[in-house]
Amino acid sequence: MCGIVAYVGNKQCQNLLLEGLKRLEYRGYDSAGIATIQDGHIRVVKTVGRVANLEDKLEEVGGVRGTIGMCHTRWATHGGVTDPNAHPHTDDKSGICLIHNGIIENYASLKTYLEEKGHKFQSQTDTEVLAMLIGELYSPSEGVDLEAAVQAALREVTGAYGIVVMCDKEPDTLVAARKGSPLMVGVGNGEYLVASDGSAVVSHTSQAFALEDYQVVKLTPKGFRTSTIHNVPVTPKIQQLEIELESIELGAYSHFMQKEIFEQPKCLSNTFRGRIDTRDGKVVLGGLASFAKELTRAKRVILLGQGTALHAAMIGEYLMEDLAKVCAVAEYASEFRYRNPIIEENTVAIAVSQSGETADTLAALQEAKDRGALALGVINVVGSTMARETDAGVYLRVGPEIGVASTKAFVGQVAVLTLVSIFLGRRRFMSADQCAEVLKALETVPDKIQRILEHDAKIKSVTERYIDRENWLFLGRGYNYPTALEGALKLKEISYIHAEGMPAAEMKHGPIALINEGMPAVFIANRGRQYEKVISNIQEVKARGGRIIAVATEGDEQIKRHADDVFYVPDIPEALSPMLTVIPLQLMAYHAAVLRGHDVDKPRNLAKSVTVE
Ligand code: AGP
Ligand code: GLU
Repeated sequence: MCGIVAYVGNKQCQNLLLEGLKRLEYRGYDSAGIATIQDGHIRVVKTVGRVANLEDKLEEVGGVRGTIGMCHTRWATHGGVTDPNAHPHTDDKSGICLIHNGIIENYASLKTYLEEKGHKFQSQTDTEVLAMLIGELYSPSEGVDLEAAVQAALREVTGAYGIVVMCDKEPDTLVAARKGSPLMVGVGNGEYLVASDGSAVVSHTSQAFALEDYQVVKLTPKGFRTSTIHNVPVTPKIQQLEIELESIELGAYSHFMQKEIFEQPKCLSNTFRGRIDTRDGKVVLGGLASFAKELTRAKRVILLGQGTALHAAMIGEYLMEDLAKVCAVAEYASEFRYRNPIIEENTVAIAVSQSGETADTLAALQEAKDRGALALGVINVVGSTMARETDAGVYLRVGPEIGVASTKAFVGQVAVLTLVSIFLGRRRFMSADQCAEVLKALETVPDKIQRILEHDAKIKSVTERYIDRENWLFLGRGYNYPTALEGALKLKEISYIHAEGMPAAEMKHGPIALINEGMPAVFIANRGRQYEKVISNIQEVKARGGRIIAVATEGDEQIKRHADDVFYVPDIPEALSPMLTVIPLQLMAYHAAVLRGHDVDKPRNLAKSVTVE
């Protein structure tokens, strides 16, 4: 929900901080700020808007100097988008400077306590309260140095945090800490970087470790020390960062979303590599091997996710039933975690997440684990919190996804859920030949996606005809009902057009009242068990003046009699079709956003990873 980069070492750090911040800007972009310790004093420059605005402001003030500093892009939770509410925040007593990702839930009571002690606040944020609290507790003469003051303060707060703190009285020390919001520490030679994720670290060092919940790290050019908030020493696991710079750079594309749509064939080939054995008719998932028996005995599978990940989970529900013959249900993680869910024995919970940091999905997974479920992850970011908290899992292997609107991760999630379903099905009732047949069809998906991408120009020209319509419907049945939800979400979140997805049959139970002259209705009408029913639904909309955009199977001539525009996708078994039918929907959303002049990669009000509740 925000981007954090901090540095301590022997280099002037303004530019390296800004370079890292730009790589994280997709995580939140309401405001940006930077601070260094310059000639013994905290120097803060901050502004609403993007990192580019911050760079302009730095230009005006002559920049900031120093070999220790921090910077932040904000996704506002407490307090409007204003300069005073931008991070970094300072205290009014001890020369503390802090940046924060997350929510301090008990900030109000702490603020009252601090105001009664005479502290004067400059912002409406919860973050400033934490800075003031650390400043209030800081007392080096009594042995409470910056590390100890941070530990003491964090023992008082509830909520989620990823923070970096510095103090002008300890000008060579950074202290970072986390609970719920990710922080990674890059280990250099006499220098350290702290960042929200590895993409801001990898250009400086490939050695890094992730902070765990309730952990604190003190960093100076001489070394580092990790402990808990109770000052119990801990030893972190330093690992090799596997991110290639090329994968987080735009290259020849106009937007990361465009790049990520077009690299889906290559990404899916990576997802499948080494995991599909058509000769022996089996799926090889090393990450699940040690739980294969427990998985095979599964009586129920609960799939958890939010947003696009939930749509993939909903397709997973159909796949598990069809291919593994196991009872499955997809749930909003945010709802599941607050219900009183019944978890019987032999239940498997699968968390679906690109970032592996979504707060609601993490909490729902924990709830399922606490009640005895086997916890699996279908996750993209290696080493993410969710990846560390599951018993086992399968990585998507689609590479870093920078565009806020998820595309390749969605197709990767559906692909992995397909593999897991076949993995399970093969252990329960599927013969080697049946398994080989499905796997052979699965292997054709990358090439078939490539064929659809070649129609990009046509999809753009059709989209252009409808971008002035402010209300769209997306309708599908069976496997493509969740695909319809996903198409609606894509359009909504980047073009700001209101769009609603639903099961095609549901339209007659109310939403059909919305149909008016010229209203676009996108139908997923590929070959499948319910094709004729979808055609009937199309006619119901057409009869009321709606404009029909259909996604259909190559060779289907009948659809042309009903639809105003048709996007064809290659034929494939229905269970595998969402990975194809979603591609035209992704491209429509992308072109609608570009044609409407929106910032495709950083849509308003959104952030890439929802690490707060
Ligand atoms: C999808 O385009 C959105 N960015 C959003 O719905 C996202 O899918 C959701 O927040 C879940 O994120 P995750 O996959 O990282 O858990
Ligand atoms: N809750 C803090 C604020 O509103 C931090 C938000 C974030 O994670 O960017 O400023």
